[in-house]
Amino acid sequence: MSAPAAAAITGAGSGIGRELALACAREGMAVALTDIEPAALAQTAMMAESLGVDVMARAGDVGQADQVEAFASECEARFGGVDWLFNNAGVAVLGPAWSATDEDWQWLWSVNVRGVANGVRSFVPRMLARRTRAHVVNTASAAGLATLAGSSVYSATKHAVVAFSECLARDLEQAGADIGVSVLCPSLLPTGIHQSGRNRPFELANTVSPASAYGERVRLGMAASPIDATDVAAMTLDAIRARRFYVVPHVQTGDSVRRRMHAILDDHRALHPDAAASPLPSPPNKE
Ligand SMILES: NC(=O)c1ccc[n+]([C@@H]2O[C@H](COP(=O)([O-])OP(=O)(O)OC[C@H]3O[C@@H](n4cnc5c(N)ncnc54)[C@H](O)[C@@H]3O)[C@@H](O)[C@H]2O)c1
Repeated sequence: MSAPAAAAITGAGSGIGRELALACAREGMAVALTDIEPAALAQTAMMAESLGVDVMARAGDVGQADQVEAFASECEARFGGVDWLFNNAGVAVLGPAWSATDEDWQWLWSVNVRGVANGVRSFVPRMLARRTRAHVVNTASAAGLATLAGSSVYSATKHAVVAFSECLARDLEQAGADIGVSVLCPSLLPTGIHQSGRNRPFELANTVSPASAYGERVRLGMAASPIDATDVAAMTLDAIRARRFYVVPHVQTGDSVRRRMHAILDDHRALHPDAAASPLPSPPNKE
């Protein structure tokens, strides 16, 4: 089996995306990078080039389908396609559910959900046509597996990414494709995500002042993380090799998931006390 030769990474200008790009470059892979922030993107490109690999960097907005399609088409022309795709770009807003504006919803849905969908639509058919082993990683969040006060819009988009990724994995299995899928679900860790507003489009500008108490909680959570973006990138590459679907880097996320699932099943049992439990199904990638 030939080694993966090229990776495409969205949101590569900062945080987890930058570390994914550098981790792939350290593997000797060519990297195609995109980000909405040209200066940050150029910085990552320089860092990857210094590792001696071929680098392509294109500024763009993942929420714009035509820009993602142009990026995929350039990747094909330059590298003959990519083996690994990281749909990683993401943004966040905070505040109680009732204070979320229509602009909040439009912005987060565009970047966090349509950004991932656009990547899959433009890259996966090209992977299928190549008929070589490939892998897609979608960055969701621990907020896509469980929920927290103050994160309604973010959490809704990340739950959507988890559901979309699970369906993608099942669709690829059904198609008999040798394309693995992973969904990356970190809890808080230090990156630029708490300053997402720097990339918010003018036409979707915030119409209410952000709730500062939530911002403080996020900053404290980030500072308390025992792992950083470099660790998350390393765990993600390990998961690709092992074809593990759920990539859950923080140990405490296990408890949040367990609590949520118990709450669902407890309430289900209250309504259906005599229902027998059927055997657990296999996770995606494992059938
Ligand atoms: N840091 C955390 O605590 C955390 C936790 C869970 C999940 N995540 C997810 O990790 C991913 C990466 O975020 P990060 O934490 O590294 O934050 P970050 O802000 O450091 O990096 C995100 C990158 O995405 C880029 N970006 C924003 N909007 C874009 C757009 N429309 N098109 C293209 N690029 C765009 C930004 O310029 C930035 O370089 C996101 O999907 C985020 O939701 C982060």
